[in-house]
Amino acid sequence: MATPLLAVDGIIAGYGAAEQILKGASITVAAGEIVSIIGPNGAGKSTLLKTITGLVAAREGRIALNGKDVTAEGALGRAKCGIGFVPQERNVFGAMTVAENLDISGFQEPGKVRERSEALYERYPMLASKRKALARTLSGGQRQILAMAMGLMNAPALLLLDEPTAGLSPKAADELFEAIVTLNQGGLPILMVEQHALEALEISARGYVLVSGRNSREGAGTALAADPDIRRLFLGG
Ligand SMILES: Nc1ncnc2c1ncn2[C@@H]1O[C@H](COP(=O)(O)OP(=O)(O)OP(=O)(O)O)[C@@H](O)[C@H]1O
Ligand SMILES: [Mg+2]
Repeated sequence: MATPLLAVDGIIAGYGAAEQILKGASITVAAGEIVSIIGPNGAGKSTLLKTITGLVAAREGRIALNGKDVTAEGALGRAKCGIGFVPQERNVFGAMTVAENLDISGFQEPGKVRERSEALYERYPMLASKRKALARTLSGGQRQILAMAMGLMNAPALLLLDEPTAGLSPKAADELFEAIVTLNQGGLPILMVEQHALEALEISARGYVLVSGRNSREGAGTALAADPDIRRLFLGG
């Protein structure tokens, strides 16, 4: 098998000295894929993304990007290796304008901030029209587009999205999923955590179900979305 873009193997991690939240979680993302992680509240989905970005240290296990072990790298080192991250909460600076949010996000290559922000204004005309608006005045869907654009300012090789559609209306959530698909069709691999499990699986090449810090199920996105057990778990029906 070809070396995956991202290989996360046997991660044990948590927050306290002893407490384990992740108890051996493993996932891979291949070039070009959208991969979704779903699972109940508190399963450790956000913790897993934070472990991949280096914001939470893995006590055991290995994280490799394009075959290169990055487990010992800190968050900045991982970002430099190409891992972009859009957190679940507080992912924009509300008291700053859209333009300021984008500009400070391109910290890795300050020389490219202008070129990249202009490309993002072209891709997302809403951001261009709101350039001077404070981020806190944006709608939920607009804010998530801004957060995603901030994640793109460093031209990542892989984008991690933690619950991009959380709190959005069904219509805004659909629009955001469409934006994610379009971004992926441009070649960017995406690993996302989603509460809208079935919708997320339907646009994903593959998915993982994380329960109590461990892999529970994995498979093709559409196959998992059609699975009666998964539907019962996530639709209650
Ligand atoms: N900073 C923290 N310090 C201590 N414990 C934490 C911290 N962040 C999360 N936890 C705990 O770790 C466990 C997993 O949390 P995590 O946020 O990874 O779950 P999740 O699957 O993303 O849940 P949700 O669907 O609610 O976002 C929970 O029991 C949570 O209370
Ligand atoms: Mg979470």
